[in-house]
Amino acid sequence: MFEELLKIREAALKELEAIKNADELNELSTQVLGRGGKLTAILRTMGKLSQEERAALGQKANSVKQELLEKFEERKAALYELAEQKKIEREEIDVTLPGVRRAVPMGALNPLTLVYREIRDALIGLGFTTFEGPEIEYDEYNFTLLNLPPNHPARDMQDTFYVNDKVLLRTHTSPCEARALKTLDLPFRLVIPGRCFRVDEPDASHSPVFMQMEGLVVDRNVSIADLKGTIDSFVKAVFGENVESRLRPSYFPFTEPSAEVDISCTICGGKGCSSCKGTGWMEIMGCGITNPHEIENCGKSPDEWRAFAWGVGVDRVACLKYGISDIRLIYEGDGRFLSQFK
Ligand code: DAH
Repeated sequence: MFEELLKIREAALKELEAIKNADELNELSTQVLGRGGKLTAILRTMGKLSQEERAALGQKANSVKQELLEKFEERKAALYELAEQKKIEREEIDVTLPGVRRAVPMGALNPLTLVYREIRDALIGLGFTTFEGPEIEYDEYNFTLLNLPPNHPARDMQDTFYVNDKVLLRTHTSPCEARALKTLDLPFRLVIPGRCFRVDEPDASHSPVFMQMEGLVVDRNVSIADLKGTIDSFVKAVFGENVESRLRPSYFPFTEPSAEVDISCTICGGKGCSSCKGTGWMEIMGCGITNPHEIENCGKSPDEWRAFAWGVGVDRVACLKYGISDIRLIYEGDGRFLSQFK
C-alpha cells in the first residue's frame, strides 16, 4: 500500500508538471484528491489494516495529501500568474508608438459655396463688402419697399410661401437691398448672398429652396456702364476670360431700366447648340438701375443717390459652370455628388 501511495504521488506530481490551465488542474485535483479520487480510495481500504500499519500509513497518506495540496496550490498560483501575464501582453498598449491615423473621409465644398466664393472674391476686389438679411422676411421688405405694393401684378412673378399676412419666406435676396438702404450710410457696394424660397415643384431646373446673390451699388454717379463692367468682371472670374456677357431688356419693378444678363454659351462657346437653343447665349440673372421709388421708399433721396443692382441664381451659375444637369443634386447633399468638387 505504501508503494501504491508513492506511485499515486509520483504520478500526480508528474501530471502536475504537464498541466497547462486551471481546468486541467481542477480535473487532476478531483481525480487524485476528490471524494472519488485515488488517494481517498486508498484511505478507505485502511480499515483492513492492523493498528500500527494503519497509523503509519495514515500518517504517510496525510503527508502525501498535504504535499499534493500544497503543490496543487502552487501550480494554481503559477498558472494564474501566467494567464495574467499573457493577458497583459495581449492588451499591452505602447503609448510611445505614433498614433494611428484613421482615414476619415474628407468632405468637399458644395458647388454653391465654390461659386459663391468666386463671385464674392471677384467683387471684394472691386471694393464690395458682404451683407446679409433674414430668410423669414416682412412682406413690406420683400415686395412693398421694392416698388411692388400690395396687389401689384408683378407679385405673381414669384410664388410665395406666406407665414401670415405680413410675413413670408423671402422669394429673393432683394429685400436686403431695402434693409441696407434703410440702415447703412451711403455710398456702399454690397454683395448679399442667401437662401430664398418659392412655391415650386422640385424638378431638374426648379427647387423650392435656392440660393441667390444680390449686388447693390449706391453712389452719386453710377451708370449702366458701371453695371455692365461689374457684371462682366465677375462673369469672367467665374467662367473664364473668353466668356462674354450681354444685357437684354427686361422688366423688374425695382429697376428702371431693367435687363437680363446672358453669357455666351458655356457649351458651344457661342456658335449655337441644343443647350443654348441655338442662340449662342444663356440667361443667368436679372439686373438694372435701381428704381428711384425704391430709393425713396427706403428713406434716401433719389435726387442725390443712384444705384444699380442684380440678383443672380448661384445654383444656376453652378449648374452652368460644372455642367450639372439637375439642380436637385446641389441641395440633396449626396456625398458621391459632392466628392467630385474637391
Ligand atoms: N430679384 C430678382 C429675382 O429674383 C432678380 C433681380 C433682378 C434682382 C433685378 C435685382 C435686380 O436686384 O436689379 O428674379
